[in-house]
Amino acid sequence: MSEEMYFKQENVINRVRTGIDGLDGIIDGGLPGKSITLVSGPPGSGKSIFCFQFLYEGVKKGEKCLFLTLDKKVNGLLTQAKKLGFEFQPAMEKKLAKFLFLNVNKKLVYESMTNEILSGEYDRVVLDSITPLSEMPIYAKGTENNFDISIINSEEIPTNTTLPVRRLHLRFIMDALETAETTSIVTSELPMGSSLLSRDGISEFLADGVITLNFDPPMDRRKFSVMKMRNTKHTLRPQDIEIGEGGIRFI
Ligand SMILES: Nc1ncnc2c1ncn2[C@@H]1O[C@H](COP(=O)(O)OP(=O)(O)OP(=O)(O)O)[C@@H](O)[C@H]1O
Ligand SMILES: [Mg+2]
Repeated sequence: MSEEMYFKQENVINRVRTGIDGLDGIIDGGLPGKSITLVSGPPGSGKSIFCFQFLYEGVKKGEKCLFLTLDKKVNGLLTQAKKLGFEFQPAMEKKLAKFLFLNVNKKLVYESMTNEILSGEYDRVVLDSITPLSEMPIYAKGTENNFDISIINSEEIPTNTTLPVRRLHLRFIMDALETAETTSIVTSELPMGSSLLSRDGISEFLADGVITLNFDPPMDRRKFSVMKMRNTKHTLRPQDIEIGEGGIRFI
């Protein structure tokens, strides 16, 4: 193979369709394969619906999909998805889709999460949302490149190390997704009217892409913006979207 051909092959980025046609159209056909995209927005802005749509697109193609939820009402989540036209039951029976509840009150929440991500050979993973995890007190042992984390009681939180510790904390999650070589979506809960890209102020730097969902109440409109996307030329202009049967649709 000539050097030029080799160079071209190396530069072809595999695109993973999100299932939202309008979005795939403005990001070169889909999310870069094996990337981590942060989806941020206030309550009700469509973060979970985005996640359903992304995983549903995967199961339609026969890909293995994992939905990590911090909401213990997994059945409620499945009902919500079904109402929008995303019926995951058949895929769950075929072991193509899995919905796993992460209990943040359990000391081993990190282990259960990373074990599942790393052992499942998933093509697509969703973590909805990272916010309760990023706000949990943790204690990191070791150096920045070789560390082990565990959750501690609030009385034991080292007072002077919140930012470095939180960064390690979030990197631990992002590292697991990266190691698993899966294409992932991580959501972050923003307060209404916030101009931040994530609740923790760190995830947007660790993620390969950032999408924000928002409202324009006076115009009775929903907005969708791609703020960052690795290896992709994209507009920053907020796009008008609708939510309904079939999920998010660009107008
Ligand atoms: N069938 C439907 N038709 C039209 N709009 C819908 C429908 N179902 C849900 N919605 C809209 O989507 C919103 C919920 O979206 P979603 O659950 O994805 O929000 P979220 O960003 O995950 O919120 P939270 O941060 O509270 O989890 C509802 O508040 C409603 O406005
Ligand atoms: Mg949600």
